[in-house]
Amino acid sequence: MDKLIIQGGKPLRGELEVSGAKNAALPILCAALLASEPLELDNVPRLHDVATMARLLEQLGTKIVRAGEHMTIDASGVSSVEAPYELVKTMRASILVLGPLVARFGAARVSLPGGCAIGQRPVDQHIKGLQAMGAEIHVEHGYVTAQASRLRGTHIFTDMVTVTGTENLMMAATLAEGETVIENAAREPEVTDLARALTAMGARIEGAGTDRIIVHGVERLRGARHRVMADRIEAGTFLCAVAAVGGEVLLARVQPETMEATLGKLREAGARIELGNDWVRIAMSARPRAVSLRTAPYPGFATDMQAQFMAVNCIAEGVGTITETIFENRFMHALELQRLGADIALDGNTALVKGVPALSGATVMATDLRASAGLVIAGLVARGETVIERIYHLDRGYERMEAKLSGLGAVIERRS
Ligand code: UD1
Repeated sequence: MDKLIIQGGKPLRGELEVSGAKNAALPILCAALLASEPLELDNVPRLHDVATMARLLEQLGTKIVRAGEHMTIDASGVSSVEAPYELVKTMRASILVLGPLVARFGAARVSLPGGCAIGQRPVDQHIKGLQAMGAEIHVEHGYVTAQASRLRGTHIFTDMVTVTGTENLMMAATLAEGETVIENAAREPEVTDLARALTAMGARIEGAGTDRIIVHGVERLRGARHRVMADRIEAGTFLCAVAAVGGEVLLARVQPETMEATLGKLREAGARIELGNDWVRIAMSARPRAVSLRTAPYPGFATDMQAQFMAVNCIAEGVGTITETIFENRFMHALELQRLGADIALDGNTALVKGVPALSGATVMATDLRASAGLVIAGLVARGETVIERIYHLDRGYERMEAKLSGLGAVIERRS
């Protein structure tokens, strides 16, 4: 199993390009299932999760051609509607094939994802929405089986804001008969990017980016070409690294308008931020100031940026309170950060972080994707050597992170 070895304390300087967004690429890959003509995608990140999704789609009978950041997905020859446990268990986003399969083929059999390290994460809202659209759904032997001759448009209220739930239902609704209204929809930019891809394929969607999405069903979708949006979480992670360890970095190929909550907190922490249309420059010359935050659905502060800000707070001046409202068990990085000398007190879904002047290197273990990113940031700051084990979590969502950080002057290497 690979690990990362970091010699901390080097400020970061230079320029780097941010990759396409994992959380936009995954649903958009599934959207290809809705058409019998190829979907061409640009700016597809080279990540384990993307490879897993491609494997799942290939297993269903789609043909995928990948050349660098370009990918073509041809779902004209789909021969199976079953997403097996072996693939779904490694990536919860596999549930995103459910809506497209039942909408285009009238049937789907998708393994239940089960729990994951950061919490229960049920898929009841995906199921409830599809049932409201007329699908007959059974959950047995660990699988969700859905059937419908043609889905019908309807009015759906989700009980909570769910990102992949909104995406699954929006995709299903594109081929339903009549109009579907999704209330309490997720407003995440990745939902909007998916809507853009679907619209290019001929779908009729209004309100993406608001909490009320209206989809007018059409008979069929066609092939299209789409560029995946920039990864606001990858970008935010590098910005936090600079805020923690100091330096000056320009991030290119980003969409700053999708990052307001993160940029606001970085300014509060004392970072100097400059913005262009598709770039962000950050400069940090002093120790950061602690910030308090509460995770919330977009446009609130993203739960996927929580661990990275906790790492910044660890060496900040002052005390910051971090409240996690989306997932019930997303503080595992706190215990690992303590191994590096952080002063963190946990109380339920709140972490009180008292900044210390310095962290000291140690061996720590990554527990989930964003927790790993938090540990990398802490390792970049800590004195001496930090070893991060189980970085397969990191590879699920970051493209060549150690190479990008080395390019900025960090002393970091991967060892098998
Ligand atoms: C997506 C993102 C993930 C991010 C999360 C929250 C992708 C591939 N993943 O995950 O990176 O951390 O949004 O921004 O885009 N819930 C239910 N029932 C459901 C669905 C969700 O109870 O049917 C709950 C979840 O347990 C969680 C909350 O709703 O507590 C939000 O989850 P959700 O937005 O669905 O997360 P994902 O879409 O899985």
